[in-house]
Amino acid sequence: MTDFKTKYGPWAIVAGASEGLGAAFAEALAKRGVNLILIARRLDKLELLAAELGNKYTIEVKYHAVDLADFQQTKLLVSQLECTIGLLVYNAAYAPIGYFKDIAEEDLSKIVDVNIKTPLLLSKLVSTNMISRGKGGIVLMSSLAGTQGSPKIATYAASKAFNVILAEGIWHELLKHGIDVLATCAGAITTPGYKTAQNTKDAPGTLDANTVAEATLNALGKGPKIVPGFTNKLAHFFMGRIFSRKFAISIMHKNTKDLS
Ligand SMILES: NC(=O)c1ccc[n+]([C@@H]2O[C@H](COP(=O)([O-])OP(=O)(O)OC[C@H]3O[C@@H](n4cnc5c(N)ncnc54)[C@H](OP(=O)(O)O)[C@@H]3O)[C@@H](O)[C@H]2O)c1
Repeated sequence: MTDFKTKYGPWAIVAGASEGLGAAFAEALAKRGVNLILIARRLDKLELLAAELGNKYTIEVKYHAVDLADFQQTKLLVSQLECTIGLLVYNAAYAPIGYFKDIAEEDLSKIVDVNIKTPLLLSKLVSTNMISRGKGGIVLMSSLAGTQGSPKIATYAASKAFNVILAEGIWHELLKHGIDVLATCAGAITTPGYKTAQNTKDAPGTLDANTVAEATLNALGKGPKIVPGFTNKLAHFFMGRIFSRKFAISIMHKNTKDLS
């Protein structure tokens, strides 16, 4: 734990921290003694979480209401922080559900802003100081949906593919500067976002948010990508290596067709 704090502290940004997996990341980092900067849109939820973690752990917690769809707003906040950022966890995502023909242009654009533009430019922003310090870490949340075409969440899935490929590339580049980059390709996680979208019973291999956060932080520094959970690892192997692309896409559609 001390090693983790030395390498990825003293402060971590959790972008998309107000609930679900982001809140689980915040607690997993607090347990490791890392001070937190929590970002999301809902200030009331951030305030509650910050108070809870501040009482439970010997760490400092700051929180800011920012819309991550607006990179300039995000950049302004991060540039004004008087904290040394050792870790970025980019957890927020925008995932409208529907077939491509039915998704509005502004929603497609927002997927690009929240899921691609801001994690990309925020990674660039925080990595500059990390390079000077010779240490740090960046976690980009991705999804098993991003490993093949995924009908009904096609653009979201494509944005998640972007994050894996970006993480793998900069993992290699930044390693020599002491910076660890990791993409987490999660299967279903029982978060508020998932519960709202999932109408039927949980998908096989569904994990709770704490398990995914712990698996991710434990994998940081060990490679560019992790798939948490045995069932998800198996699914990833079959979908990517064994099944034809056409078959993998049709299986994905079986899983996504009832989302709403
Ligand atoms: N849940 C799953 O089954 C699953 C599966 C695979 C991958 N993932 C990935 O895991 C991550 C978390 O998923 P989740 O289910 O926990 O999502 P979620 O329940 O929808 O929560 C996302 C968090 O991000 C924040 N957020 C969303 N849009 C934001 C914006 N524009 N600006 C600032 N904050 C924003 C939300 O807070 P506010 O609403 O307060 O802003 C919330 O704290 C995502 O990257 C997702 O792609 C999830």
